[in-house]
Amino acid sequence: MEFNQVVSNRREITSFSNRPIPSEVLDSIVEVAILAPTGNNLPSREFIVVQERKMLDHLSEATPYVKWLKESQAAIVITGRPNISKYWLQDGSISSGYIWLSAVNEGVGCAFGAILNTTDNEESEQREGYVRDALTIPKDRRILAILGLGYVKENPKKKQMIPKNELVHYETFE
Ligand SMILES: Cc1cc2nc3c(=O)[nH]c(=O)nc-3n(C[C@H](O)[C@H](O)[C@H](O)COP(=O)(O)O)c2cc1C
Repeated sequence: MEFNQVVSNRREITSFSNRPIPSEVLDSIVEVAILAPTGNNLPSREFIVVQERKMLDHLSEATPYVKWLKESQAAIVITGRPNISKYWLQDGSISSGYIWLSAVNEGVGCAFGAILNTTDNEESEQREGYVRDALTIPKDRRILAILGLGYVKENPKKKQMIPKNELVHYETFE
């Protein structure tokens, strides 16, 4: 797919069909995640690919906003390593964007489930703890997000875009 088409077609998909994702398609998406840049080129993020139905169902209870994992055919959990780099959060976030666009390019829908909550430690610990226990993630890793993947069952409604002049400033802010 043309890059511009990938970017403009990207939406959050939260309704998935039960068509499985071929392993080579999932592998291609993971390869793109690895290509995402990191600050100082440090290995500050790691990925866990989940395909087992039972685990996807279990992870769907990690927060009230990841119920779509019950329908998704796979998930990629993004973890960060604060001990390795001060940029772990940016690095993990960039990789999630790469995964999302790569999925679109492969014709696969993607949903983003936030796990990390930087403004509420207790909430974050609870969410991360749930995913950590389920996937045996070591304590020195933070858990940023779970991306759900699958073929689209239902497309989202057209979204209202914020006008460019409200978002983009040239030369100075004012
Ligand atoms: C940082 C971040 C956190 C998000 N958290 C969730 C989430 O927990 N659950 C969910 O269903 N969608 C989540 N989303 C998806 C957004 O709600 C969605 O991308 C946004 O409404 C724009 O819609 P679009 O992706 O279709 O353009 C998140 C997206 C981002 C970038």
